[in-house]
Amino acid sequence: MSSELSDEFSKNHPSDLTPTQIASLQQHAVTVAHHAYAPYSKFRVGAAVLLTDGTIVTGCNVENASYRLTTCAEQTAITSAVALHGPGIRIRAIAVANLNETASQPCGACRQTIHEFSTPDTIVFYPAEAGTIAQATIAELLPAAFLL
Ligand code: THU
Repeated sequence: MSSELSDEFSKNHPSDLTPTQIASLQQHAVTVAHHAYAPYSKFRVGAAVLLTDGTIVTGCNVENASYRLTTCAEQTAITSAVALHGPGIRIRAIAVANLNETASQPCGACRQTIHEFSTPDTIVFYPAEAGTIAQATIAELLPAAFLL
């Protein structure tokens, strides 16, 4: 999969991350996707979270014979980030990749999970058509997030 951003999306959603930073985050997501446990869906997903302190934490999807107990890659990465760095983490950006070379946006539950640890500027990178990478803010992906 290409790590180039779609020109259209880059124009509409400029990110303050450098192309090198984005490519690195993307590569982390691809690498960890190889660790996915996805014997049921065969859809191996990786996520790499860039925290506001510059740290990157990764995670992959972990499925279960009881399908609804499956954990998405984004949730695994964010849960690990909290475990490693504490409850005060803030996500600057998150990249999601799959090994199936197909477009895939974060699911609704993952959007809510990302939102919980986001800033207004948090950027989400995800696989789009024809091997391109799309980007959007979490507010664009989840404009009416649940708040307690
Ligand atoms: N999956 C993720 O890891 N992240 C998403 O945002 C969408 C779906 C996983 C869950 C399941 O293991 C497989 O992809 C198929 O739904």
